Amino acid sequence: MRFANRLNYLSSNVFADMDKSKAEAISAGKTIIDLSLGSSDLSAPNVAIATIENSLHDPITHGYLLHHGTLPFREAVARWYTKRFNVEIDPQTEVLPLIGSQEGTGHFPLAILNPGEIALLCDPGYPSHAGGVYLAGGQIYTMPLLAENKFLPILADIPTSVLAKARLMVLNYPHNPTTAMASLSFFEETVKFCQKNSLVLVHDFPYADIVFDGIEIPPSILQADPNKSSSIEFFTFSKSYNMGGFRIGFAIGNAELVTALKKIKTIVDFNQYRGILKGAIAVLESSQETVKQTVAELQKRRDAFIEALNNINWLVESPKSTMYVWAKLPRSWQNKSIDFCQQLVLKTGVAVSPGAGFGKQGEGYVRFALVHNSDVLEVAVERIAGFLEKTI
Ligand SMILES: Cc1ncc(COP(=O)(O)O)c(C=O)c1O
Repeated sequence: MRFANRLNYLSSNVFADMDKSKAEAISAGKTIIDLSLGSSDLSAPNVAIATIENSLHDPITHGYLLHHGTLPFREAVARWYTKRFNVEIDPQTEVLPLIGSQEGTGHFPLAILNPGEIALLCDPGYPSHAGGVYLAGGQIYTMPLLAENKFLPILADIPTSVLAKARLMVLNYPHNPTTAMASLSFFEETVKFCQKNSLVLVHDFPYADIVFDGIEIPPSILQADPNKSSSIEFFTFSKSYNMGGFRIGFAIGNAELVTALKKIKTIVDFNQYRGILKGAIAVLESSQETVKQTVAELQKRRDAFIEALNNINWLVESPKSTMYVWAKLPRSWQNKSIDFCQQLVLKTGVAVSPGAGFGKQGEGYVRFALVHNSDVLEVAVERIAGFLEKTI
């Protein structure tokens, strides 16, 4: 069978190889502790479940949800956003519901890039950012995120020849996988840079709520671009509200960019079930107590996991945000993150993500997702300790 060339880019996927190793470990009888995916094990808020349940009995919710979702949803989003970030949002033109943030970042390049035009992406970065550019026939210029630069890109390093063909930049802070955070002043610098170089700026913002130790509320890109001249931001209910399976998120930003994305979505989907939008409104309008509980639980897991790693002499900095730990591999495993993860899951059943799966600069690291309770995380570290003893 002959397939389109774009499939070539999409089929070589480190995570698919990891899935094969996981399946092999299961057939060999290993008990899996899966820390490879950022899919929360915690429950969606009761208010979301009850609202969606009630909606199911109302036939009005059973039909297609056309255009850009419902006005009550866009209004609830705009109110939530303005209360939090103090930037006014027009719910008619500046908000768009998404089937998750991944859907938004995956489709958005189709609205911006002509074939051959360049998108500036972070390396390491979230795989759908690159996937969307491939789907649009664009080219990728990667901005290395290095520990010595606090995992922020150095904008001055982007060559002028690249900028001449670039149309789009994608950022994501708090960052998956490095867990780094960005300041408002960094965003202001980036907005100016994008304006100067006629770039559309995308900010993927799934971890807006997931910050620890009571510090720093992460800034929104629109605080740095309050006139929304060239920016669009993607939010999700998957992390703050443990609603990953419900597939709901939203874009907020420049009205023309929102309309452009809406045109693409009109071709590929009819939005999600109306009841899910109602559930999402209910959680946005709730006290946000469940968000606090989720953050407290993740912080507890982070502390237990980092302490356990330190106790086996794997020294890792404690993340200030996200649901991940980004750990530099022990010296004997440097530059072998895929090998490390495959052998680890085959020998111990502990599944983690190889840094190389997030880009070239991710090599030398692994990412642990804190998606089990502290007791299970401690068992995972015991198994890792046994593995390291035998392999170092
Ligand atoms: C940076 C980033 N973007 C998008 C997503 C996916 O979000 P959603 O469930 O809303 O598609 C994730 C999930 O891990 C993520 O880390």
